[in-house]
Order: sequence, then structure tokens, then C-alpha cells
Amino acid sequence: GTILVLNGPNLNLLGEREPEIYGSTTLADIEALCRKAAEPTGHAIDFRQTNHEGEMVEWLQQHRKGLAGIVINPAAFSYAAYPILDALKMVECPVVEVHISNVHRREEEWRKNTIMTAAVTGIISGLGAEGYAAAIRYIATQG
Ligand code: DQA
Repeated sequence: GTILVLNGPNLNLLGEREPEIYGSTTLADIEALCRKAAEPTGHAIDFRQTNHEGEMVEWLQQHRKGLAGIVINPAAFSYAAYPILDALKMVECPVVEVHISNVHRREEEWRKNTIMTAAVTGIISGLGAEGYAAAIRYIATQG
């Protein structure tokens, strides 16, 4: 099947964006890593990024049925985007929330309180780009 990998706002600037926190890995590097992780599983990767909340909602609605799984880094949508939370609740496949940084170890208190966690299967935070690969391997174990 297909694993949809969704990335939220500002992740298009990975590599340039706060490298002391997110490192030098670019979103293109993460896409390549996802494709490599998926290869032995036989799943296809559909990799996307958006800075627009409504676009993320539409992608989730369109793919609420028929996917092997979803890996989502909601980025700062994690803290306020209730329409995305509601859309996630309609999704039938396993959903893994991924954060590159360990949001519980960040300076800002608000970063710890991702509202998406209530609607996903599980969460990986702080494993860098490898978190995406781990999420893909988990989804592949789910059939
Ligand atoms: C992030 C963590 C969020 O707090 C932040 O808003 C991001 C990236 C991460 O991958 O570590 O944009 O989701």
C-alpha cells in the first residue's frame, strides 16, 4: 500500500531553519530517507509538505480510507490546528506523529502540548530524521 508522509509549516526550510535544534538535514534528505526505509517493506511513499492548514485538512480528508499508514510531522500546527485534529479522527489507518526534536526537552512549555497526540496511534519525538524511518517501519508491521 501507500504510506503518506505529511509535513507541516516551516519544514520546507529544514537545513537552514534553526540548525542548532533541527540540524543540517533538509526535507529532501528526509524524503530520501523515507523512500529508503519503505523500500524493503514494499510500500510506496507519498511525501508532502504544506504551510497551509486547510491544505493539510484536505489531504487528510481525501486519504481517510485506503492508505497503509500516515506519518505526520504537524510542526507548529500541533499546538492550535483543531481542524487537523478532527480530520485525523476520521482516518482509518495507523497514524504516527513525528517530531524531529524532543518537544519535551525544548525551552518553550507550549511545545510539549501537542493536541494531535489525542488522535494518533503513537508519537516519536527527538530521534531526528530517523523518527520518520522508524514510523514507516512500524506502519509496515501493521499489515
Ligand atoms: C517540530 C517541533 C515543533 O515544536 C515545531 O513547531 C516545528 C518542528 C519538530 O519536528 O521537532 O515546527 O514539529
